[in-house]
Amino acid sequence: MKILFAASASGDAVAAPVYADRKLSDAAKALDSATSGAVTRAIEASRFKGGAGDLLEIAAPAGVDATRIVLFGLGEKSKLDGNGAEKAVAGVIKSVLTSGAKAVSVHLDGDADQLCRGALGATLASYRFDTYRTKLSEDKKPSVTSVEMVSSHASAAEKLWAQWGPVADGVTLARDLVNETPNALYPESYAEKVKEISKLGLEIEVFGEEEMEKYGMHALLGVGQGSVRESKMVVMKWDGGKSGDKPLAFIGKGVTFDSGGISLKPGQGMDEMKGDMGGSAAVVGLMAALAGRKAKANVIGVIGLVENMPDGNAQRPGDIVKSMSGQTIEIHNTDAEGRLVLGDVLWYTQDRFDPKFMINLATLTGAILIALGHEHAGVFSNDDDLVAKLEKAGKASDETVWRLPIGPEYDRQIDTPNADMKNVGEGRLAGSITAAQFLKRHVNEKPWIHIDIAGTGMHAGSKDPRQPTFGTGYGVRLLDRLVRDNFEG
Ligand code: BES
Ligand code: MN
Ligand code: ZN
Repeated sequence: MKILFAASASGDAVAAPVYADRKLSDAAKALDSATSGAVTRAIEASRFKGGAGDLLEIAAPAGVDATRIVLFGLGEKSKLDGNGAEKAVAGVIKSVLTSGAKAVSVHLDGDADQLCRGALGATLASYRFDTYRTKLSEDKKPSVTSVEMVSSHASAAEKLWAQWGPVADGVTLARDLVNETPNALYPESYAEKVKEISKLGLEIEVFGEEEMEKYGMHALLGVGQGSVRESKMVVMKWDGGKSGDKPLAFIGKGVTFDSGGISLKPGQGMDEMKGDMGGSAAVVGLMAALAGRKAKANVIGVIGLVENMPDGNAQRPGDIVKSMSGQTIEIHNTDAEGRLVLGDVLWYTQDRFDPKFMINLATLTGAILIALGHEHAGVFSNDDDLVAKLEKAGKASDETVWRLPIGPEYDRQIDTPNADMKNVGEGRLAGSITAAQFLKRHVNEKPWIHIDIAGTGMHAGSKDPRQPTFGTGYGVRLLDRLVRDNFEG
């Protein structure tokens, strides 16, 4: 879908804002007079109040070229922010996406940034994953091919879109990766896909099992041991900052399918474990976004790609493996595999790149879903300053985070008499925290944040119009914002 910016509307569907208490925007007023009052009559005949999320469609209005007018509520004008604009325009696009309308014009008040947020909302809402739907009838397919944001600030917004368009593309890429099926997306095919983004100016390195063996990454390798697919690690490099500046490092869990291994998961819902690479997808999407908008920062992305399968050669509960850090790990549950993958990738990243900080994303624990649902990602960290910045970026991007504690009392839960640590805590209590404690033992005291996105990275059936499919692409907008607001220039 194409995004355009224009000073006047040319689409066959025209959307205009209405504020709280049915206060018409200038664009809605203009449509009202062009249609001899059809806008006011339609509002009066309905329960449309102009609240955020309210929508009212007027079909085939006389007096204008448009085949439909869509009124959308923005609530109190003084309270409107970028997130509100994003969500409202997303609602409009969701409502017309398969309506038959081809070109949609959306009037929006506010500055260039606000317009770009609206356009971002349009892109997010138009996302589809139809790759495998061979029998979708024509009238169920999206009809909208372009969205035009209409404003007197259009030309400034069009310029600014060079900063936002790549972020929208990064989210789309991340969603495509999460939604892709595990028979098509496995470590090797995934690494091949990541190589494609080198066209944006990123440097991409792919490591196989032989190399990871040499580095001593036996925690990661143990997870992939039961799979016929070779495990991979991919490093993405973007050098947009000053030479010599320490890089920012983003690390992602890329379990392309998590069956649980020998500690096999129950069958119900296991298909969703195709999304257990959501953390890595966010890192790939982020790196594409940063390169696409030529971010002025040095950034490293590292993802660990494995498939966790039961097999005659699979890792067993009771096995002890040595991670790249030199620490030994007793495997108590082969389904607690994400931390094993990340432990090695985190250690590798700090050892090779000496980054300013490390932020990892992972669909790590079911427990974070119990605690926070799909609304916030769980955050764990050894650096209060960095968390404060992340929380701010979360509010600004509407990809929100909630910090949970870590500490020695929890850390003791992963001690074992047989090795340096075990890969699960005692029982099920504080499951997300004990997972974080395990990661913390692999960051070598570097400033670090772990973001558990098991709830936010996958969400089928979300009510948010910006979130139309299972794969959400969560993390791309959050971390792009973190970099943009704190670590560029
Ligand atoms: N990938 C899962 C976590 C997960 C669960 C993500 C549900 C999304 C939705 C992870 O590898 C896992 O299996 N974690 C276990 C840990 C347990 C064995 C200590 C869990 O959460 O049950
Ligand atoms: Mn698991
Ligand atoms: Zn997993």
